[in-house]
Amino acid sequence: MNIRRMQAEDIGALLALWREAGLAIRPKGRDTVEALARQFASMGRHWWLAEEDGKVIGAVMGTHDARKGWINRLAVHPDYRRQGVASALAARVEESLAEDGVEIFAALIEDENETSCRLFEALGYEKYPVHYYRKKLHEGV
Ligand SMILES: CC(C)(COP(=O)(O)OP(=O)(O)OC[C@H]1O[C@@H](n2cnc3c(N)ncnc32)[C@H](O)[C@@H]1OP(=O)(O)O)[C@@H](O)C(=O)NCCC(=O)NCCS
Repeated sequence: MNIRRMQAEDIGALLALWREAGLAIRPKGRDTVEALARQFASMGRHWWLAEEDGKVIGAVMGTHDARKGWINRLAVHPDYRRQGVASALAARVEESLAEDGVEIFAALIEDENETSCRLFEALGYEKYPVHYYRKKLHEGV
């Protein structure tokens, strides 16, 4: 397995991986190719891909707000799970976020996503009770 920084031209492969991994995609909102290209232009140096024989098998989008680092959309292709791919991606994104001075990392995980909860617990993250409030400018976002 090879882990490398994502490039703008990998956005199509990223979307394909999300579909294969069963992630929800918002085709009218923040997951259009244009929206992802805009996000990539701002935070892409914290986006990492895992590859095996040239195929994208895992990905993570790191972001930060100068205070906290966020681990977003950590996903691994179903055929490559339980082999440490997500753990390796998480370690890499934590390193790159720390290079920007971030010393705390966080992930938002939906209640029903037990697999991701188990993963973050295994990675040493503590569950922190918080109410997540959000406001959408439009339904598709
Ligand atoms: C969660 C996910 C990224 C884990 O990827 P992975 O490469 O299989 O994870 P790892 O192999 O690095 O697992 C590390 C540890 O996490 C825990 N873990 C991972 N998957 C688990 C599962 N299905 N059940 C229980 N524990 C699990 C284990 O402790 C595991 O160590 P072990 O295999 O030695 O027991 C993958 O299952 C996935 O892509 N799921 C859907 C993604 C998703 O919904 N992402 C949205 C989050 S924002």
